[in-house]
Amino acid sequence: MRLDSEEFAADPHRAYSALRQAHGPLAPVELADGVPATLVLGYREALQILGDPARFPADPTERPSSARCPTLPLSQWRPSATRGEDHTRYRHAYHDCLAQVDLHALRTDVIANAVPLINAFCSEGSADLLNEYAIPLTVRVMNGVLGFPPEADDAAFDALTQVRDADDAASAEAGFERLTAVIRAVLADKRSRPGTDVMSALLTHPGRFGDGEITQIVGMMYEGGTEPTWNLIANTLLEMTNDVSFRDVLLGGSLSTRDAIDDVLFGDPPVPNGCVSYPRQPQIIGATMLPPNQPVITSMAASNNDPTTSGGDRTGNRSHLAWGAGAHACPDKAQSVAMVIATDSVEQLLDVLPEIELAEPPQWRRGGFHRALMALPVTFPRTPPLNL
Ligand code: HEM
Repeated sequence: MRLDSEEFAADPHRAYSALRQAHGPLAPVELADGVPATLVLGYREALQILGDPARFPADPTERPSSARCPTLPLSQWRPSATRGEDHTRYRHAYHDCLAQVDLHALRTDVIANAVPLINAFCSEGSADLLNEYAIPLTVRVMNGVLGFPPEADDAAFDALTQVRDADDAASAEAGFERLTAVIRAVLADKRSRPGTDVMSALLTHPGRFGDGEITQIVGMMYEGGTEPTWNLIANTLLEMTNDVSFRDVLLGGSLSTRDAIDDVLFGDPPVPNGCVSYPRQPQIIGATMLPPNQPVITSMAASNNDPTTSGGDRTGNRSHLAWGAGAHACPDKAQSVAMVIATDSVEQLLDVLPEIELAEPPQWRRGGFHRALMALPVTFPRTPPLNL
């Protein structure tokens, strides 16, 4: 099974089932043509691997095969918390600079950005809620969190688009280079005019990060923070249009938006496969031998729905692996930022347009590392714009 195939993108859960039936909780897959990997489908096995960084390190220093895989640019070695050897120092910095984000002010910012976006389409009766709402809203809010000034928005987003659309590793790296050039230029300005944002906090952090390191951290947070968040918004809205009973209980108030979003994080998380590790020696898990230096990918989507551990009503249950697990899990403060953006943007939209209907069957982007729609075209009764 190739994770970057059309077939996989069209119905990943059918693929997980077939792999589970054929191989059990650990299955051989290809990330791209000729790039082998192991996909972890079992919930217990996922926790075992993510909780044992000594046997399953995230740092891919010895990682010859995935160099050819365009979908793994962020997993290559970088001086960052996720993939470098200096993880603890970086992890502190992630925590500290996100801890100073004021979540109340963030809420206000989400609504301030949501209203003009909704006003641009609410009287039309139709919209693409991914490209006209979830993406611009997330990017604008995250730009504020990270510290991009408005004049850098377009250049940063164009670079990110190049990374997302890359057909090969060289083009993905070139996109990331463009992104880091934008960040370097912004940093130069932040030194003389600091604000209350992640970039400014990193400049004075006791970990004494150099400009090159800060650039990597901010680039990684921009790339790793925006796309999953906008996909979480879009996938939650899709779930509401697909499942009328889900929407009715949500609009009726017996399910909170937070619970609805957690349901999507369980069933169809925005990062369905990730948390890549690279065992240095052969490793045995259960009855499977994992070869050295070959990527081991955790399937959060498959593990969350492992039939041996899941079942029953999931309301209020947050034991899903959508944020990863172990030493490299998405930091708590980052999760809070993502949840505020997702919850408030879904609520704001449904307050104005409760009756959205899907206009066309969903089409998914290929790649395997993001559960990402190409668009979310919907229709709804025409509604007058909100007062600003
Ligand atoms: C719905 C939104 C999000 C999802 C589903 C998500 C998911 C994840 C996952 C699965 C990982 C583990 C990656 C790995 O082990 O390779 C991770 C790591 C990380 N995420 Fe998130 N994330 C989201 C939003 C954000 C946001 C908004 C930020 C920043 C503001 C962020 C910052 C980070 C950082 C810094 C790490 C690396 C942690 C480390 O290696 O120590 N994430 N995220």
